[in-house]
Amino acid sequence: MSTAKTTSNQATNASVTVCTHPLVQHNLSILRDQQTSNELFRSALKRIATFILQEACADLPLSKKIIETPICKAEAHVLAPEVPLIISPILRAGLALASVATELLPTASVYHIGLYRDEETLKPVTYYNKLPSTIDYSQARILILDPMLATGGSAVAAVDIIKKLGVRVENLRFVSVIAAPEGVEHLTKAHPGIQIVTAALDERLNEKGYIVPGLGDAGDRTFGTV
Ligand code: PRP
Ligand code: URA
Repeated sequence: MSTAKTTSNQATNASVTVCTHPLVQHNLSILRDQQTSNELFRSALKRIATFILQEACADLPLSKKIIETPICKAEAHVLAPEVPLIISPILRAGLALASVATELLPTASVYHIGLYRDEETLKPVTYYNKLPSTIDYSQARILILDPMLATGGSAVAAVDIIKKLGVRVENLRFVSVIAAPEGVEHLTKAHPGIQIVTAALDERLNEKGYIVPGLGDAGDRTFGTV
């Protein structure tokens, strides 16, 4: 039984994959509940991360290699060593997802992007961007991590930064936990071909730009700054 549903948009060549696994849904309920403590919120976020990251990594390239088991020689498949793997969490809320991503992909580099959303204008403000400019990004696979895709302003800004380095859109995955239709539309129009993986596609944004029903402020609930 498949536990993910992918919808493709022919006009933008973009896709949205929603993970429907029962454990994802169970942990989403924990995230959404306003009674959930910060500690439980973080742990539920990480449990969901294991599922959405599996989807986001489903087509990572492999290389064949001969290894020796204690019994005999055997053909094995390993992550292609020539393909740089990059995990790019958007600060702050992407950090909880990054801690799981680094466990799953221990050889990946972690390039942080500092962005916050101005509360009045809802426009993204970049405050940290030190991605190395010395590597060849043309083959790199990048996972951009941010639990919330609301207006899409932060996501579009992060993809702008990463594409300027030479990363190809087909090698990017935008990994979120809750996405609003408005954010999906903004991101896919700004970056045709982008592939989004999420645990939930919610109803809409409210007048303050929060996702409905959503979970509130992901950064505040992750780090206890409410
Ligand atoms: C949140 C969230 C996203 C952004 C999404 O970050 O983690 O980065 O809002 O909103 P958008 O799609 O409308 O841009 P926030 O600005 O609250 O920063 P923080 O994680 O540092 O609290
Ligand atoms: N950022 C959040 O953390 N939550 C929202 O609902 C929207 C933006």
